[in-house]
Amino acid sequence: MKLSAGLALAGLSLAAAMPFKRSGPTPAKGKWFDRFVVIVLENTNKDVTFGDPYFLNLTNMGMTLGGYHGTTHPSQPNYITMISNTIAGGVFDDADHNTTQDSIIDLFEPAGITWRAYMEGYTPLEGGDCNPLTENDTTLYVRKHNPFMSFDNIRNNKSRCQNIVNAEEHFAKDVALGADAPMYMFYTPNLDNDAHNTNISFAAKDVQYLVDTMLLNKEFMKNTMILITFDENNIYINDNFGLDNSIYTVILGNDTIKCYDCVDQTYYNHFTQVVTLERNWNLSTIAQPDGSEEGWDQWWRPFGQLRSASDDVCAYAPCSEYYDGKSPAASDGNWEDQDF
Ligand SMILES: *[C@@H]1O[C@H](CO)[C@@H](O)[C@H](O)[C@H]1NC(C)=O
Ligand SMILES: *[C@@H]1O[C@H](CO)[C@@H](O)[C@H](O)[C@H]1NC(C)=O
Ligand SMILES: *[C@@H]1O[C@H](CO)[C@@H](O)[C@H](O)[C@H]1NC(C)=O
Ligand SMILES: *[C@@H]1O[C@H](CO)[C@@H](O)[C@H](O)[C@H]1NC(C)=O
Ligand SMILES: *[C@@H]1O[C@H](CO)[C@@H](O)[C@H](O)[C@H]1NC(C)=O
Ligand SMILES: *[C@@H]1O[C@H](CO)[C@@H](O)[C@H](O)[C@H]1NC(C)=O
Ligand SMILES: *[C@@H]1O[C@H](CO)[C@@H](O)[C@H](O)[C@H]1NC(C)=O
Repeated sequence: MKLSAGLALAGLSLAAAMPFKRSGPTPAKGKWFDRFVVIVLENTNKDVTFGDPYFLNLTNMGMTLGGYHGTTHPSQPNYITMISNTIAGGVFDDADHNTTQDSIIDLFEPAGITWRAYMEGYTPLEGGDCNPLTENDTTLYVRKHNPFMSFDNIRNNKSRCQNIVNAEEHFAKDVALGADAPMYMFYTPNLDNDAHNTNISFAAKDVQYLVDTMLLNKEFMKNTMILITFDENNIYINDNFGLDNSIYTVILGNDTIKCYDCVDQTYYNHFTQVVTLERNWNLSTIAQPDGSEEGWDQWWRPFGQLRSASDDVCAYAPCSEYYDGKSPAASDGNWEDQDF
């Protein structure tokens, strides 16, 4: 960090080209994974996604989360719930909101868990500050799909801003670091590549590029869990928190899941990501600096069919008991019915 401050003072802007380098305390081994990658696509109903040959193909290679749901509508609050723990930090629409609340990043950094957010079409400001622009019409980047930008303690902190990078420039380079790649990677494609302005088969091309880049690097894939999900389905009912907002979600990474080509039908939603990350790295729950709302991560459950080193049931094999869509924890998909 001293080096970059020096360069900035000298009037040079190397922020955009800054390579990833780990720093901070040595992190603990994860319970289920040592790296979590999430790729977020847009506004597609589950049946439409399953209808695409490539997305169907991915379900053969990993575990489908058949009971996974978006948390609300429209887009932005869904992204925010993937990294925080209250009802979207008070953000309920797609406007440029700022929140004083904490996020999963506030738990990661003291624990030495490295992170980066990859945003297609994003350009940081000269000197490395976060670029809070609403959208770039040329590159099809939008702030509403970049949840990190809404948190004051990220957007206003130049050192944290270094971790929000242009995806096209950095993603493949960082995957090439193999074991040294960031431990948490959040990937947002642009408005064409995420299906927002296009369709699911268009989005499949970008997803295949990303997935191939990762799967071809064995060092990178060791104990890595890749979650491919959507922000919400394409049926817009305002504030339908907890109601049906079913989306295609698949986990890839045979070191981390109990079975592949299988379905876990338990009810999950975007908050489950946060709880899974907290439990994986034995972190606390996220503090509520303004005391405004109860943290959902205090009582939500993590993904249920993950494989820890001491529990390798069904590893590297399809498990027929899950494959029929009736996992041991199957539910009818109503969040009210869950045993917290
Ligand atoms: C998981 O292992 C199975 C069996 O080897 C393979 O078919 C599948 O492609 C693997 N999945 C991933 C994401 O590597
Ligand atoms: C949030 O902060 C950005 C600058 O970072 C500002 O442009 C925007 O107006 C703020 N939003 C609100 C609702 O205050
Ligand atoms: C949009 O992105 C392009 C390419 O990175 C950049 O040249 C341009 O300045 C950006 N526009 C805005 C308004 O930031
Ligand atoms: C900014 O972020 C860095 C790295 O995450 C952290 O060490 C520092 O305390 C933060 N600065 C402020 C003013 O919060
Ligand atoms: C998706 O859009 C492309 C054009 O970009 C079109 O050729 C294709 O048929 C569409 N696919 C579906 C499933 O609608
Ligand atoms: C399935 O996805 C994998 C990973 O991207 C890819 O290597 C393979 O070619 C795909 N197969 C089909 C039939 O699409
Ligand atoms: C998890 O953290 C708690 C304290 O926060 C500690 O008591 C416990 O030993 C840790 N567990 C593991 C497995 O590291």
